[in-house]
Amino acid sequence: MQAIVLVGGKGTRLRPLTDSVPKPALTLVDRPFLAYMVEWLGTHGVTEAVLACGFLPDQLREALGEGEHEGVKLTYVTEPDRRGTAGAIRFAAEALGERLDDRFLAVNGDVLTDLDLTALLRAHEERAARATIGLYAVEDSSHYGLVACDTAGAVLDFREKTGEAVPGAVNAGAYVLEREVLDLIPAGRQFSIEREVFPELVGAGLCALPLSGYWMDIGIPERYLQATWDILEGRVETEVRPTAPGLFFGPGCAIAESARIGPRAVISRGCTVEAEAAVAGSVLLADCSVGAGASVSESILGTGAVVEPGARVDGATVAAHERVVAER
Ligand code: GDD
Ligand code: MG
Repeated sequence: MQAIVLVGGKGTRLRPLTDSVPKPALTLVDRPFLAYMVEWLGTHGVTEAVLACGFLPDQLREALGEGEHEGVKLTYVTEPDRRGTAGAIRFAAEALGERLDDRFLAVNGDVLTDLDLTALLRAHEERAARATIGLYAVEDSSHYGLVACDTAGAVLDFREKTGEAVPGAVNAGAYVLEREVLDLIPAGRQFSIEREVFPELVGAGLCALPLSGYWMDIGIPERYLQATWDILEGRVETEVRPTAPGLFFGPGCAIAESARIGPRAVISRGCTVEAEAAVAGSVLLADCSVGAGASVSESILGTGAVVEPGARVDGATVAAHERVVAER
């Protein structure tokens, strides 16, 4: 089974972390975010992940490397210009040419999840659908694609980002597609699967299946942090080994004995936390330093960020290599 993974978005809502690192390459606990996705795909029989890149493709390649990851072959394709979610699928499909299977998966590259793709594939096959969308129930559907379907699973309505904070079943960003659906996508230009393809397929072979398990779009700082604690507290199945529940210390980090760490913290490789400093509810990406008596709470520090002695960082996202000074 092949899966096209959409990883070309700019990740603007995670700026400044995503100024120089594309969202899927951002480290989440101990590995690039994309590694979780490929591991998840692999557990559902995916043998080739086609990474549909746009923004900063080289950093993506560096993050996961060439060849394969955990038994899943990695193929990178890069769009020459912005294609949108459907345009990117079409571009990747064309790049594969005859190698593309008649039925394949397409997934958004920014969700941390353990949803049952095997069940999604089975439902698609049983209903002889043209496209099947995995659904996830949320309390606030305003930022997602809201999907209504009948009891047999046929989609009645697909509405992208209604802006209304109502509970509902939303598009989880995981699809099974028949190759012929590509004919609905014009070649060589920007096209949206949510706004232009799915509405067209309503009543014409579009199905959906509610899935249960863990699902989190990591696209904003609050959810990136929540996903971190969910991994470290075992609410989602991953291969990460926490140092203690809610805590992860990377190799080669130096933490002073009098520093207060936690509840909840990731201190990545090469970080330094000096005497009497406090770090809680926060992620320090690699090579950060937190000076003596400084405090960092509910924040994300980009790679190599420096918090000077006595400085406070609260509820912030600090850019890579930025220096936070103490207020006088
Ligand atoms: N290759 C490529 N090219 N990838 C793209 C492009 C593009 O032009 N545009 C977006 N992507 C990728 C993003 O990197 C991301 O992984 C995925 O497509 C979805 O884009 P987002 O920008 O993150 O969309 P969203 O989160 O606002 O909404 C989407 O995801 C929700 C679930 O998380 C929609 O699919 C919603 O319907 C869905 O509910
Ligand atoms: Mg998203």
